[in-house]
Amino acid sequence: MTALLLSPLYIIFHIHALCLIYKWMGCCKKHFNNIFVKIIVGVIYGILVLSLPIGTVLHAGGLQRLLMTIGNFTLGASLYEAFVVIVADIFILISKKRRSKKEAKAALKAEKKALKEAKKASKNEKEKSESVITEVESAENKEADSEEIISEATEEADKKTDNKGLAITGGLAAAIIVLLCVIGVINARIIRTSEYQITIDKKVEWMKELNVVMVGDFHLGYNVGSRQMKKMVKKINAQNPDIVLIVGDVFDNDYDALDDPDELKTILKDIDSRYGVYAVYGNHDVQEKRLAGFPFGKNKDKAPDERMEKFLEDAGIEMLRDEYVLVDNKFYIYGRPDADRPGKGVEKRKTAEEIVKGLNMSKPVIVMDHQPKELAKLSQAGVDLDLSGHTHNGQIWPCNLLTRLMWDNSYGYKQIGDMHSIVTSGVGVFGPNMRIGTRAEICHIEIKMGN
Ligand SMILES: [Fe+2]
Repeated sequence: MTALLLSPLYIIFHIHALCLIYKWMGCCKKHFNNIFVKIIVGVIYGILVLSLPIGTVLHAGGLQRLLMTIGNFTLGASLYEAFVVIVADIFILISKKRRSKKEAKAALKAEKKALKEAKKASKNEKEKSESVITEVESAENKEADSEEIISEATEEADKKTDNKGLAITGGLAAAIIVLLCVIGVINARIIRTSEYQITIDKKVEWMKELNVVMVGDFHLGYNVGSRQMKKMVKKINAQNPDIVLIVGDVFDNDYDALDDPDELKTILKDIDSRYGVYAVYGNHDVQEKRLAGFPFGKNKDKAPDERMEKFLEDAGIEMLRDEYVLVDNKFYIYGRPDADRPGKGVEKRKTAEEIVKGLNMSKPVIVMDHQPKELAKLSQAGVDLDLSGHTHNGQIWPCNLLTRLMWDNSYGYKQIGDMHSIVTSGVGVFGPNMRIGTRAEICHIEIKMGN
């Protein structure tokens, strides 16, 4: 529904943006202000803008993949383009106001001149002998004429200055958008390692430390594929982890979007970990049509595609569906279903109190929950560590400022009562194929046990 509502706005915005581009081209040198060049620019711009909606409705295939890839790049650029369009609109509005003020001044001068001419005519009829007065008036008229010439010249010069200003501002804005997009695309492909050291005040026999790697939000599909997964697995294995925890959104709502499922399975199977790899589903681990990130049509089951489940099984990833596992009789890992898309067979996920019922609370309890929700409730229930993703830390500035307002812990570490909460910004990207002001990461968490 949101996608359908936003689509006309998206189209109207881009038509307005294209008009501004044409205006800018008109202010540039003559070869930019050429009808053929304008047609070429219009066609290229149309392809970029329409690639996402067309790709969304096409059946899976080479063309659809190409359009989706182009569309996801355009989506990121559109956000910054929107900022530029707003600034340009303000600039044009100010310069229009300035010009209309000058035009009003010039009209007033012209009116004055006409009045003087009428006065002169009437006086000529009365007395031709009043030559002194006539001479004075003639001098006044000459002055008015020269004032008008100066005013016209100034107006023309101002117009030229405005055009030059628009040409320079437009050029700078275009350069900034391109630069931001290039930086964002490169940045999204660099995976960093975020380090955390925490203590859980519970004594565990034969275990003083636990070496955890948390990852999430791969969003495997059009944006993220084998190359990013290879880099991630290399980073994970470099930490020599005891356990690897995947906090959801392995997929990006479309199994058909995977570039090579078999290769991806083989890559993920290479994760080395003493106790294995556990995961929970996220809100994107369901087969669902999406347009610019918003659901398009409904998946009533809110459950993963069977191919997704088989994929995870083949990749050696153990899914926890509202259930726990007691690892080596030392600590618990509990996997919560996603709050919005709980998955097959789960109508309503267990509450924080129900999760810990029956657990031996003298052992550490680590909960994986895709969305960092109900943190206070989990803390009150006695959970020691909550691991989440979902927020991407906003992914592109200034969305990271918004996610800070939306979540108790939108990114990184936060202590909630006695519970530690860590939220990862994820390995992949969702929607716009870029990251600006945020990072792709794996989280290396060293947990010390006991006092
Ligand atoms: Fe995600």
